[in-house]
Amino acid sequence: METIKAISSRTSLKTQLSSKPVEQDKINQVLEAARLAPSARNLQPWYFVVITDKKIIEEVVTGAFSEGNQIAKQAPVMIVICADPNDDVVVAGKEYYLFDLGLAMENLLLAATDLGLVTHPMAGFSEGKLKGFLGIPETFRVAVITPLAYPISGSYTDSAQERLKQRSRKKLSEITYLNRWGKSLKVG
Ligand SMILES: Cc1cc2nc3c(=O)[nH]c(=O)nc-3n(C[C@H](O)[C@H](O)[C@H](O)COP(=O)(O)O)c2cc1C
Repeated sequence: METIKAISSRTSLKTQLSSKPVEQDKINQVLEAARLAPSARNLQPWYFVVITDKKIIEEVVTGAFSEGNQIAKQAPVMIVICADPNDDVVVAGKEYYLFDLGLAMENLLLAATDLGLVTHPMAGFSEGKLKGFLGIPETFRVAVITPLAYPISGSYTDSAQERLKQRSRKKLSEITYLNRWGKSLKVG
């Protein structure tokens, strides 16, 4: 039940990043959640670059992030999820490292939510510049990054309230079928 609550409470909150330090124990807990994600053939292709040095966060965000993501530099922690595609399988043209990294990221986001921390997955960055700043090897791909922070004001629940009210999702009835494509499933 707690997982379902975290899923429904999680939202992307780049506007709510406090610069207050996040305890190492909490950083470890979200990384552990990511490490436990499932992966194709259990290949676990993921690597996590955790940035806590304020100067490096400033440099990376200013130099490699899109304009809309500049606000991320307020965060005391940035987590970069990357993999070498050669470490994972390609099945029928599908590169499973991206899928595996996505699962790891979602575990991380949910664990952070559970701990009352703010996150915001971001793909708006120059991969080449980012890899250069962080010394990530040439063959690696950076899939997604998230800041990790305490919310600016009040609790996670208070900070997320407004955005959750505006959350927009397709209806289940638009995206689910029963037994056969096109046959509608009676859901909300
Ligand atoms: C792979 C991925 C990349 C994203 N990249 C960005 C980004 O660069 N900048 C940004 O502001 N939001 C980014 N987002 C956040 C999405 O816009 C957000 O998840 C979506 O609007 C749903 O909102 P919610 O996360 O609050 O439920 C990204 C999300 C994902 C999953």
